[in-house]
Amino acid sequence: MPLKTIRSKADLAINGAPPAFDQPLHVGRPNIGDREAFLRRVGQILDNQWLTNNGPMVQEFERRIAEYLGVKHCVAMCNGTIALEIAIRALGLAGEVIVPSWTFVATAHALYWQGITPVFADIGPATHNLDPDAVRRMITPRTTGIIGVHLWGRAAPIDELQAIADEHGLKLMFDAAHAFGSTHHGQNIGRFGACEVFSFHATKAFNTFEGGAVTTDDDELAETMRLMRNFGFKGYDNVIHPGTNGKMIEVCAAMGLANLDAFDDIVAVNTRNHHAYREALKDIPGISLLSYDPNERNSHHYVVIEVGDDCPASRDEIIAALHAENILARKYFWPGSHMMQPYRDLFPHAGLMLEHTREVAGKVIVLPNGMDVSDKAIGTIHAIIRSVS
Ligand SMILES: Cc1ncc(COP(=O)(O)O)c(C=O)c1O
Repeated sequence: MPLKTIRSKADLAINGAPPAFDQPLHVGRPNIGDREAFLRRVGQILDNQWLTNNGPMVQEFERRIAEYLGVKHCVAMCNGTIALEIAIRALGLAGEVIVPSWTFVATAHALYWQGITPVFADIGPATHNLDPDAVRRMITPRTTGIIGVHLWGRAAPIDELQAIADEHGLKLMFDAAHAFGSTHHGQNIGRFGACEVFSFHATKAFNTFEGGAVTTDDDELAETMRLMRNFGFKGYDNVIHPGTNGKMIEVCAAMGLANLDAFDDIVAVNTRNHHAYREALKDIPGISLLSYDPNERNSHHYVVIEVGDDCPASRDEIIAALHAENILARKYFWPGSHMMQPYRDLFPHAGLMLEHTREVAGKVIVLPNGMDVSDKAIGTIHAIIRSVS
């Protein structure tokens, strides 16, 4: 179906016109890299009859990812959340751990699930990443660690957080779920802190259907995590550690290997789309697009806009207009983890320390990006936002 022309409010679906898209346009529709390469690998898996349990695809995937990131170890896992849980446990975190509230709730849940209290620290309003001064304010005698999140693939304040961790004897790890392919001072994300945790969920720029990994230069930590992700088995019949089932399966590794070869193309499309959004949206008052540091690499997967007070339409009015057109823009990560259960009931006053989190949560919209988003679609999204504003 050709995209409709939008000239005025009357052309909008919220005012009774047909929607711009007949199929939902998602924020993170999965990127399928090289279909033929993936299917060839699936054939090999079936021929091998080795479907899981550290098979050849997973071993190759781990080697290739470690090489790509320039890190010693990549421990592949079934998803990013289990990877977070295993990394947290392997690092020996306990008591209280400082995290941003402004992140996907899995960062906090991975702690709480293991009886650890997530303590929410505020972010910088311009960066959406942890504010080091806010982190300092949340340290108590029970604090054992900090989990920085590289939100939108933009590096957390790594050096400042490392300095705080060193000063207070805390462990520092990173939730790098958004940051595959990003750099900090020209060095790949994946090499900072004690370890970094990636998600390769279908909605991420680089996906393995479901999947995740922990990367580290620490031999002992890597070995502990390898044991933990496979029930603590060291060889046959020999369990030497408590563990769980965090294994990545072969077909996921095959998808990852096919997508790794296509990753540069995926990033090129995302980056081109990001520029197109920037050009298109700059004529709308009160709308600003979060930018990426031109001196660092980033997958440009997330197109994050903020709706300021000077925009004639509110954030929620714009979201409603887009959803009516079948454009499933999101308010990620509204309302903030501290407002989600069980944290909302456990820490009803957390918001008092989270001024910038509350402010950002009130104005953010994440727009669709990825291989399936065309220039025309971006033009239509712009026309909708302009007409409603
Ligand atoms: C910041 C962040 N952390 C953790 C996760 C959890 O990863 P997964 O979905 O692979 O379990 C996600 C996303 O899904 C995320 O966005």
